Amino acid sequence: MEKLIVNGGSRLCGLVKTVSAKNAVLPILAASVMSDGEITLLECPQITDVKVMLDILKRMGCDIHIEQNGSVKINSQSAYLSQVPQNISKELRSSIFMMGSILSKFKKAVVSYPGGCEIGLRPIDFHVKGLRALNVNIKEEDGYIFCDGSKMCGGFVHLDYPSVGATENIMMAATLIRGVTVINNAAKEPEIVDLANFINTLGGKIKGAGSDKIEITGVKKLHGGTYKCIGDRIFAGTMLLAGAMTKGELEIEGINYNYLQPLVSKLRESACKIDCFNDKIYMYCKNRLKAIRLTATMPYPGFPTDLQAPLMSSLTTADGTSIIVENLFETRFKHVPELIKMGAEITVKDRVAIVDGVSSLHSAEITAKDLRGGAALVLAALTAEGTTSINEINHIDRGYVSIEKTLNELGAKIKRITV
Ligand code: UD1
Repeated sequence: MEKLIVNGGSRLCGLVKTVSAKNAVLPILAASVMSDGEITLLECPQITDVKVMLDILKRMGCDIHIEQNGSVKINSQSAYLSQVPQNISKELRSSIFMMGSILSKFKKAVVSYPGGCEIGLRPIDFHVKGLRALNVNIKEEDGYIFCDGSKMCGGFVHLDYPSVGATENIMMAATLIRGVTVINNAAKEPEIVDLANFINTLGGKIKGAGSDKIEITGVKKLHGGTYKCIGDRIFAGTMLLAGAMTKGELEIEGINYNYLQPLVSKLRESACKIDCFNDKIYMYCKNRLKAIRLTATMPYPGFPTDLQAPLMSSLTTADGTSIIVENLFETRFKHVPELIKMGAEITVKDRVAIVDGVSSLHSAEITAKDLRGGAALVLAALTAEGTTSINEINHIDRGYVSIEKTLNELGAKIKRITV
């Protein structure tokens, strides 16, 4: 078992290069199954979630090569299995995206209920309802979902809520079938646009991604191609917050700042100086952060739930009282008791957290409970007095490539040890 040992008190300064977005890479890997040619995915981050997804593809019979330069080559022509092995799909919620792509390719699929971060109920009813609108016959039995797509055709899907995963799943399912599919009230996240661009690069016909109405015209086949995913706005946002709370100075490269507007506007409210250029964000923070009156998580372009925990860490030592409302997931405050162990003053009632800024945090032995909450604890430890020990960092490794290496290059003092 590994843990991080963080010596707090360093000011973070320097250049951060953004990696490809986890939430773009995962559905794009799932979509690769639909292609009849070879896919080259450039700069594919070797985070645990990606490794698990590649393992799923291998077990389905795809040929996978990870190149020295970080590219991944996927050849799905040899894929024969229309089932995602249960033990492995439990590790990764994104394995549910396989349902759409497998169905599109094989016109049948068996997947088990997905795993991933335990941040609430995370049902899949929107996915199921959407696929049924494409004439898929779905039965749920003993933790498995059996899909018969032999009569699949385009259809009209109205999502009750703009679910990211359901939008992506339905987009994929509709790619290789007869007819036109319309998704109404679709999610608008940049990663949805990236998935549509990827599928279109291979010869797919998807229009309207990024708006609330997406139209997919089914095509007979997808060819191969080379693709580079968009930069990770959540990674970039985590780094911006780490810089802000350590009174640092950072240049973040490889990110479209429009994707981070919700965070940038909050940081400006909190007294950080931020300049945005085409694919670069420059951040400078000299003074103690100011409290932010209200932050409520929302679907894109609202404030992202994935940055809620890192933002909360930064507000624990801000001047004044901040209120955070988590609208997306029921149990996404698991980092709160850990922050309290470090001296933070936070009160939670249902989906609302009230953060009373303290002058400083102190070291403690704390435990990561989920991916973004875990990253938030690393940020808190950077400002804490003394040496903080963080357990169960496997959660953090799901979405950050050696978080300690990235932060140490900016001046942090973090060690990864095996216990
Ligand atoms: C994706 C992201 C995740 C992010 C989330 C919200 C990936 C791999 N993961 O997750 O990092 O936190 O978007 O931006 O891209 N819901 C239902 N029924 C469904 C589907 C969803 O009730 O069938 C609910 C969920 O429980 C949640 C809300 O809808 O409360 C949003 O979920 P969704 O947008 O689907 O998130 P994910 O795709 O799972």
